[in-house]
Amino acid sequence: MANSALDNAIAFSRFAFMILGCTMGLISGQIRYSIPEEMELGAFVGNIAEDLRLNVPQLSARKLRLTSDNGGQYMKVNLDSGFLYIHERIDREFLCGPATMCTIPFEIILENPLTVHRVEVEILDVNDNRPTFRDSAVALQIAETIAPGIRFPLVSAEDPDIGINTVAAYIISSNEYFNLKAQRTENGVISAELQLEKPLDREMQSAFQLILTATDGGIPQRSGTTQILITVVDVNDNPPVFDHEIYKGSLIESVPKGTMVMKVKANDLDEGLNAEITYSFSKLTSPKVLELFSLNPHTGEIRVAGELDYEETSSYSLNVQAVDHGSPAIAGHSKVFIKVIDVNDNAPEIKVTSVTSKIPENAPPGTLISLLNVIDRDSGENGQFHCDVPKNIPFRIRMSSKNHFELITSDLLDREVVAEYKIPFVARDLGLPSLSTNKSIHVVISDVNDNAPQFGASSFNIYIMENNSPGSSIFAVTAKDRDMDQNSHISYSFLENLVQDFPVSTYLSINTMNGTIYALRSFDYEELKAFQLHIQARDAGVPPLSSSATVNVIILDQNDNAPVIVSPSAHSAPTAVEIVPQSAAQGYLVTKIMATDADSGQNARLFYQMVKATDPSLFNIGENSGEIRTARKILESDTTTQTLFILVKDNGRPSRSSSVTMQIAVLQNITEKVTGKSLRNSEYFPDLNLYLIIIFGCTSVLFLVIILLLIGMKYKQNTNISQEYYSPSCRGDSNCTFNRRPAMEETLRYPGTGRMIHVQEAQHYSVCLSPESAKSDFLFLKPCSAPMSQAQC
Ligand SMILES: *[C@@H]1O[C@H](CO)[C@@H](O)[C@H](O)[C@H]1NC(C)=O
Ligand SMILES: *[C@@H]1O[C@H](CO)[C@@H](O)[C@H](O)[C@H]1NC(C)=O
Repeated sequence: MANSALDNAIAFSRFAFMILGCTMGLISGQIRYSIPEEMELGAFVGNIAEDLRLNVPQLSARKLRLTSDNGGQYMKVNLDSGFLYIHERIDREFLCGPATMCTIPFEIILENPLTVHRVEVEILDVNDNRPTFRDSAVALQIAETIAPGIRFPLVSAEDPDIGINTVAAYIISSNEYFNLKAQRTENGVISAELQLEKPLDREMQSAFQLILTATDGGIPQRSGTTQILITVVDVNDNPPVFDHEIYKGSLIESVPKGTMVMKVKANDLDEGLNAEITYSFSKLTSPKVLELFSLNPHTGEIRVAGELDYEETSSYSLNVQAVDHGSPAIAGHSKVFIKVIDVNDNAPEIKVTSVTSKIPENAPPGTLISLLNVIDRDSGENGQFHCDVPKNIPFRIRMSSKNHFELITSDLLDREVVAEYKIPFVARDLGLPSLSTNKSIHVVISDVNDNAPQFGASSFNIYIMENNSPGSSIFAVTAKDRDMDQNSHISYSFLENLVQDFPVSTYLSINTMNGTIYALRSFDYEELKAFQLHIQARDAGVPPLSSSATVNVIILDQNDNAPVIVSPSAHSAPTAVEIVPQSAAQGYLVTKIMATDADSGQNARLFYQMVKATDPSLFNIGENSGEIRTARKILESDTTTQTLFILVKDNGRPSRSSSVTMQIAVLQNITEKVTGKSLRNSEYFPDLNLYLIIIFGCTSVLFLVIILLLIGMKYKQNTNISQEYYSPSCRGDSNCTFNRRPAMEETLRYPGTGRMIHVQEAQHYSVCLSPESAKSDFLFLKPCSAPMSQAQC
């Protein structure tokens, strides 16, 4: 390349020579050379010696010098050859700039003779510069709305070369939108303008990078380029556009506030503020939605702002808009549908529409107690439910129609077992997790008189001490009734019965209200020992129920009776007289004191005591038997009349006693006295008893005759043993029978008489103490059919 440039230069200089040759002749006295710029140092410019018609030696001799106005040293003359040559690099553009004619003038001065020759070296332009732009890139901003045809001036390129070597044309890189319009101005400079050929759309192409090339006309042609950077300036010509025309979302109704539902997004093809978007709900959106949802104006996030309720609204429609910040602003619109998914957030609701608060305990199973209305506001499974009451209570639920239920009894009720129920009615839905509602239904079981009063026991024993004071309370019975109120109000009464021919109510009274029993009279054990009555307890129900109990009234004995001496009678003669034969042996039974005591038990157990005697050594008395016997043989010296003071005591506490005084006469001959004695006392028989005694007397006489006959037969073997025994065949209070084998001679006395009966035969007979004896003060003696081991009286 460098070589070829050099060759070009040489060719140029030869061409210059030819011009030089032409011009030599025209300008006399002036030498003119023409050379291209930028020749090599030392390059030949012209043959000065020859052109000045000097021979080469003269050049030195005449001291050839070269002077220039500006003192430039671009060229020098070789004195040896006489050639002018390039001494310094010559740049036309440096020397002359844009001037079309560029010469380097200088003078050649010769001495001897001093001669001055003017030399001009014309510097010819060589296309050694390329067109250049001041900046490597030029920015242009064009609004996208600019109409086609508008031109935009472009910077010019500079080329210091001249003529055809300077900028000759501009070219723009190929593109659809812009074209280049160039024209030569008056001063010959070409100016280029960019013309918009078709409408711009920033949104399609926001920038162009064009290359502007400037070329010169030199050979070889040179060029320079610059970049034209065109920015299409945005105009708010695009609305924001949402990603979707319709957004669909769903969320469960129980979501907490602040939950993000979705994010809407709009795009604006514009840029800058024109593309900055603010989201909002449009005016079409209902106020309710505005309460429930929020839309972040910057991010487009839709969040829950209130409490959703599926049961109220199951879906929402939101109108959203996106507005850009251009001026004027443009809005884009979209719709958001939000479906609410039901959550089991509603427990069933129980409404008690009617309730019977009291039902009688005899209500049959199936009795309606309450009507209930149950609803669940959820949907689907969440809205279905079961109703229940516990199994262990006599109630159940019957469905009457959808959502309507009846609470009925399922079994028999018993107020006495459970008086009231708090029935927990539970409605539970089928949601997950399931929700339930409780309703407690209070049912009171009202009483029915289904329980009779009950006494604590079926029978009671009441013990009363005789001689009680009339009117005193002696006992209290109580009966319980498991019913309540009126049905348990008990009144007590005696069931009618007779005690000794008198109604029981003449003996006792009962407080009808509290069952306290009072004695109405003073009881006498000796008269009435026990009786039975029935007490009825009756409630006040309708109809009333009653029950009864047996009461045994047992009268207890008190020692209120002193022993009564039956024999000898207390009110016979001041003293009873007994006769003892003087011949009586020791142990001879003189008499037997007989006494009775109306009391019983220990109160009637009698003891006999000889308190005083004329001669205490002569007689003694059996403490239990009351038999007075001789304690020894009667002596002649003994007094014939013996007086004994006998005391009979019972065993009660305190003990009671009676006494009798006896006179015992000791006689030589007994038989004479017997009749006289017995007759003597006949006046004392009470008239009433006379009849009875006569019967007994006759019987006894008859008996005696038989005995005497027997005695006659068996007299010889009579041993005269006086031995006896008695055994009570019964103990106790009412009857007592004595089995007795009396002594051969035994003296018995009828009660109340002083009469003696002499029994001289060993024969069985019985003494019967009938119950009446206590009452009548009589001692009945009855013979019983012999032989007797057990007496029947
Ligand atoms: C009814 O409610 C009570 C308390 O409100 C609770 O303890 C009980 O478990 C509930 N009963 C049922 C069967 O859910
Ligand atoms: C029964 O009632 C009477 C009269 O009111 C009273 O005096 C008595 O104490 C009561 N008895 C009982 C056991 O309450």
